[in-house]
Amino acid sequence: TGYITYDDGFGNTGSCTSAITFIDGEQGILRYRGYPIEQLAEKSDFVETAYLVMNGELPDKAQRAKFSGLLGENAPLREGMRRFIQTFPRDSHPMAMLSASLNALGAYYPHLASNNHQRDLEHFDEAAAIAISKVRTITADIFRVSQGKPFNHPKPDLLYCENFLHLMFSDPYKDYSPTPEVAQALNLFLLLHADHEQNCSTSTVKMVASAGANLFASVSAGVNALWGPLHGGANMAVLEMLKNIHADGDDGTRFIAAAKSGKGDRLMGFGHRVYKNYDPRAKIIKASFHKALASLGIKDDPLLNIAMNLEKVALSDDYFIQRKLYPNVDFYSGLIMRAIGIPENLFTVMFAIGRMPGWIAQWREVAQNPKLKIYRPRQVYTGKTKRDYPANR
Ligand code: CMC
Repeated sequence: TGYITYDDGFGNTGSCTSAITFIDGEQGILRYRGYPIEQLAEKSDFVETAYLVMNGELPDKAQRAKFSGLLGENAPLREGMRRFIQTFPRDSHPMAMLSASLNALGAYYPHLASNNHQRDLEHFDEAAAIAISKVRTITADIFRVSQGKPFNHPKPDLLYCENFLHLMFSDPYKDYSPTPEVAQALNLFLLLHADHEQNCSTSTVKMVASAGANLFASVSAGVNALWGPLHGGANMAVLEMLKNIHADGDDGTRFIAAAKSGKGDRLMGFGHRVYKNYDPRAKIIKASFHKALASLGIKDDPLLNIAMNLEKVALSDDYFIQRKLYPNVDFYSGLIMRAIGIPENLFTVMFAIGRMPGWIAQWREVAQNPKLKIYRPRQVYTGKTKRDYPANR
């Protein structure tokens, strides 16, 4: 069978060619379709960036209007989908509900989920808009069910983030309308998550797609990979860690000492497989943090103070310096979401909303590949050599 190269965790394996996202981990550079993340964060919004990531170019006015129209049209969920979401136990984890719901979408739109890439690609714009728009409605419905509250209906005149916040927080007799700063903070959070090349969930999406599976089946698998605490689940874990440190009366110093000794937990929100420098997304969130908090009326957040102290201690500590461990996107993003009013158990779901354009774009790359080969890694076998079944068993 020839010689197999073992690459632990695929750290040095290029699994595909891709024209979507460029990362230079040593220098802390991230670009979507060539545009630096810093410029997009300053000048673009989530919907425009989603279009860019999926289609390769920024939309002109007509393209943006068409895309926004498709997102608006596709915001409502079919009644059956809403009933499906209601059937989960009240305390179900939102990521389990999200993954199941996205997979179920494929059953509601069989013409978009034929498992024939050529046919599915003919309806790509519709499928992409359904996934990006409905992931938001599904998330809000999951939240409403967990609160025992009635669903809200999407409003066609609202922008993407405003509509999401309305779906989440409006009550029958009181509409919720966010301040522009809150909507902007959410836009920024989603935009910064839009794609990140071949990470664990995206590779999962591509793996599933490589067998010929449809978009909904593929992104639903991506959600399950994202759920893990070493990946998207880290944003939830960071907040938990900050709260525990606070409850212990620690300022972070004791926690770091335990993390270094290997006896305590890892410092969540720190370290990255690719970035051996400050994650540029964390830099942007941190820079916009104080402005966002001030506009949200939050003056002094003890958890933020602990986070800043953890960062300071870690960045001047040999253990972290030698291993090139810097804050990643999850270190500060939970604090932003908390300020917006998103409950902790939805943090990773919010990551999934942001990542949806990237998963879709990467699914499309697989589906469009005329020389597509199924992803099928090999292994280094370490089991028993051949032995015979006992004669007198
Ligand atoms: N705290 C303490 N030590 C750490 C940490 C950390 N957060 N991360 C890595 N290390 C140590 C690790 O113990 C190892 O030390 P040694 O060489 O002495 O054994 C060394 O650094 C290398 O770590 P690794 O686990 O081999 O690195 P990896 O590339 O396999 O893992 C990672 C990357 C992100 C899974 C890891 O850094 C980690 O667990 N971080 C905490 C979880 C986290 O924040 N995840 C979010 C990642 S960014 C968003 C996303 O992609 O989802």
